[in-house]
Amino acid sequence: MTDSMVMAREPLGGLKRTCYCGEVNAAHTGAAITLMGWVQRRRDHGGLIFIDLRDREGIVQLVFSPDAPTVHDKAHELRSEYVIAVRGTVRKRPPGTENPSLKTGLVEVAVSELRLLNDSAPLPFVLEDDTDVAEMTRLKYRYLDLRRPALQKKLLLRHKVAMAARNYLAENGFLEIETPVLTKSTPEGARDFLVPSRLTPGSFYALPQSPQLFKQILMIGGFDRYFQIVRCFRDEDLRADRQPEFTQIDAEMSFVEREDVMVIMEGLIRRIFKEGLGLDLATPFPRLTYKEAVGRFGVDNPDVRFGLELKDLTETVRSSGFKVFADTAAKGGVVKAICAKGCAEFSRKELDDLTAIAVSFGAKGLAWVKLTPEGWHSPIAKFLSDGVKAAIAGALDAATGDLLLFAADRPAIANTVLGRLRLNVGNRLGIVPKEGFNFVWVTEFPMLDYDETEKRCVAVHHPFTAPMDEDIGKLDAEPLSVRAKAYDLVLNGSEIGGGSIRIHRSDVQSRIFSKLGIGEEEARSRFGFLLDALSYGTPPHGGIAFGLDRIMAIMTGSDSIRDTIAFPKTQKAADMMSEAPSTVDQKQLDEISIRVVKKAAKTEEERKG
Ligand code: AMO
Ligand code: AMP
Repeated sequence: MTDSMVMAREPLGGLKRTCYCGEVNAAHTGAAITLMGWVQRRRDHGGLIFIDLRDREGIVQLVFSPDAPTVHDKAHELRSEYVIAVRGTVRKRPPGTENPSLKTGLVEVAVSELRLLNDSAPLPFVLEDDTDVAEMTRLKYRYLDLRRPALQKKLLLRHKVAMAARNYLAENGFLEIETPVLTKSTPEGARDFLVPSRLTPGSFYALPQSPQLFKQILMIGGFDRYFQIVRCFRDEDLRADRQPEFTQIDAEMSFVEREDVMVIMEGLIRRIFKEGLGLDLATPFPRLTYKEAVGRFGVDNPDVRFGLELKDLTETVRSSGFKVFADTAAKGGVVKAICAKGCAEFSRKELDDLTAIAVSFGAKGLAWVKLTPEGWHSPIAKFLSDGVKAAIAGALDAATGDLLLFAADRPAIANTVLGRLRLNVGNRLGIVPKEGFNFVWVTEFPMLDYDETEKRCVAVHHPFTAPMDEDIGKLDAEPLSVRAKAYDLVLNGSEIGGGSIRIHRSDVQSRIFSKLGIGEEEARSRFGFLLDALSYGTPPHGGIAFGLDRIMAIMTGSDSIRDTIAFPKTQKAADMMSEAPSTVDQKQLDEISIRVVKKAAKTEEERKG
């Protein structure tokens, strides 16, 4: 027989909660209150029994005195996570027993009546914020994990933020309109989740990667300002800041230009931070063009909270004696470097680690220089003249004690490699601030990128993004130099939103499809409805979508967006609690005309590759 079976469970019996546990305070002193919640902890102190009672707003201390023997005896039987209702009187804690770390720490509730609403099986882990329980276990028992105050706070804040966004957008004339979830593939660059159609065997719906086409069609449909807090689905490889289903604050406006969208969306972000965290953000946010962002920070989502910027040394080393540098410059590549202040002491192992990172992002090697009191310590020092050394040190503002890291390659690789090394070294040096919110817009993205594997141009944002007016003329001759009317909002080095002004003319849209190697027939079959719609009086329009999960992760200082989602999925896109995905009955498969073909086990080589 378990403990729990000793005590009879009781009905609520008409009891009504008068306030949340976490809300009880000194103003309630002397008041009779009714609370309901979970037993966090029971302490028996020579006669008195203390219970920490918890609900979504916090914890309050209950006191059971032996003077009321019936309730006291019952309290003795309470265990962790039993669900109870109590009536009692609020009183100040005796001097010296206050707990300043608790919101309710000045008071306690002397209990006169206790009802056991339900018991709980022994817990698989202790429900405390500082838990070292494996995340997989927490996700399996998510209902318990969700009771931890830290997660409760995060989801409460998420609610506040969503409400702030809703209110702001509604006040600014945006209408909340739902778009379909069973839809046709929308190309945002990721793989689609497909849903087989029962009524049309062999056909599939795609879950939306975003409501992109529908929101554009709403503009064509005359709805001018639209928004939706909407689930999007992308079957991509997962990382800490990616989930297969995630939430966007999605918006679209008609008769606007880039500036209009950016200004109104800065207002949205201001409102979210004001209502969520009580912060007054300074706007307008700083801006960088894509070219500047990548040139100075190596990436298009720059963390501008610290320096360690990339410097272009191509001209300085063009005619130097180091063949790797000179050859790269001669072939049209670049030689760039960062100066890691005070890192000349880095060990062989640390340099090997940095080299491994560089190689993993495509570098052929990582040239380094330690500036020691004895001079340049480096495998490449002997190839460089004193004049070149002085010019490099000058360009990098380098001094004795510093470590210089060089990448010589195509610009895309050199920038990516140094951008990654910059973040890594910044973290090692502890110069990345832990507090604060640093926003930057990145604008003027290239419209197209060349995909080496597919041997064709692909859209950097998506194929509906408009080219910048002054660049349209270059679309045929130099398509890769055409800039788009696209913008991303970056917060502390993380892309939290992206959008663009769209193409609103069907002739321009067809031209872009052809640049993307999407033939007329394919364009018709995939986006015929959009091309048709564009020909019936489409207003100029544009919009943006913010990643709500990412915003929440940064606002709450979480390492992973999983901590800001009630029911997230693992790295393998599985729900540990419900055990989705799962197999289904043959009957269900037959109904949708699906036959499962088991893939042959991978060969050793395939596994490695
Ligand atoms: P984009 O693809 O840039 O734009 O997505 C907008 C924002 O959504 C967030 N995000 C994600 N968050 C969590 N997990 C993911 N897998 C994930 N993928 C994206 C990012 C990103 O900035 N239709 C366009 C918007 C537009 O043009 O209006 C779109 O979806 O924070
Ligand atoms: P090597 O002369 O090839 O031995 O290279 C000397 C140094 O330059 C080594 O530290 C290499 O890692 C580095 N190196 C080689 N190729 C590159 C490159 N493309 N960019 C930067 N460093 C490189």
